[in-house]
Amino acid sequence: MPSSRLPSSLSPNALSLALEARRREGRPFLDLTVSNPTRCGFPYPEREVLAALADPSVLAYRPEARGAQSARAAIAAYHGHGLDAGDLLLTASTSEAYAWLFKLLCDPGDDVLVPAPSYPLFHWLAALEGVEARSVPAILHDGWNLDLQGLASACTPRTRAVVVVNPNNPTGHFLAEEDWRGLLAFCAARGLALLVDEVFGDYPLEPRPGSLPTAMAEQAPPCPLFVLSGLSKIAALPQVKLGWIAARGEAARALLEPLSFLADQYLSVSACAQAAAPALLALAPGIRKAILARLAENLAALDRLLAAHPHLSRLPVEGGWSVLVRRPAVDDGETCALALLEAGVLVHPGHFFDLPGEGFLVLSLLPPPEAFQAGIARLAGVLLRS
Ligand SMILES: Cc1ncc(COP(=O)(O)O)c(C=O)c1O
Repeated sequence: MPSSRLPSSLSPNALSLALEARRREGRPFLDLTVSNPTRCGFPYPEREVLAALADPSVLAYRPEARGAQSARAAIAAYHGHGLDAGDLLLTASTSEAYAWLFKLLCDPGDDVLVPAPSYPLFHWLAALEGVEARSVPAILHDGWNLDLQGLASACTPRTRAVVVVNPNNPTGHFLAEEDWRGLLAFCAARGLALLVDEVFGDYPLEPRPGSLPTAMAEQAPPCPLFVLSGLSKIAALPQVKLGWIAARGEAARALLEPLSFLADQYLSVSACAQAAAPALLALAPGIRKAILARLAENLAALDRLLAAHPHLSRLPVEGGWSVLVRRPAVDDGETCALALLEAGVLVHPGHFFDLPGEGFLVLSLLPPPEAFQAGIARLAGVLLRS
């Protein structure tokens, strides 16, 4: 029997089943959920990426718990804000960074506060460490805001850390500066660590004035602050498997030693990824340029379509790779997504990400423009009929 940390049932949901059946039957569909940038036709500098991964230094094994100094120095220089190689620890992914930080900070039975709506993996990443992830819904008013009172109510004597995502996925919102200051004070007052996931930080699209561009800039926070990022989104190279944890402030830096002990038990980051990091980070702005242009082009196409379909609207996309479309909630999100799939377009219903109500659909802005435009036209047609 698997342990109780794992889900009690691994059966796929109705949308996954319908998708599987459609694939089996060879019926094509337009995928507006794609989040793998390597499958979206972007012009990667292939020769340079391959050359970076073929560094001769990988022929020798030189394990280092925190990760290779050369990779950490390149990451520190990439982020700036006074970050030093000594403030960084490498992981094979951001998901692994979460797992290690939960192991570092929590005993089994402890809990962490996580944002909602957000990235659905938190609950499992926490549960697999014997930790409970307690969701704190953001407030949607004139943009999304942190609910500091909600955080206080969700906090228990066993809460050890707060997680925020800046910009968040899939809402795309950056934290308001005011919320950020409140959050730092909240964590300091309760002795909690603060984990900030900034994997989408380099994809600002329609930023709100007064929002926090990056938590990396916080050099002397009043609580232990860990900022997470990686090559998956920064360089759109998820297959390289390189993430990192940046410790900001003395309290977080003091925890790097036990974190290194933990990392030393795994040594999971490959020599290839570490050796390639400086060159891949240098290529990252060029790779992102094509992605940012695609995000803007698809968003503009969506706006043209929405102008002709007043029954639909979208929320501002402050950053990231997704857009939230609002529809009249005449049925539940799953029924709507199943009807759309039947019509040949795949989208995520909002409840996959804990979005409130039934009226949100989550669309990826990554697909090639022709596929995106055909997909949203079909979506608008189906939703007009419902
Ligand atoms: C908010 C957020 N954090 C982390 C990740 C995963 O990143 P990695 O590939 O580094 O594990 C994702 C992936 O979509 C994400 O949306």
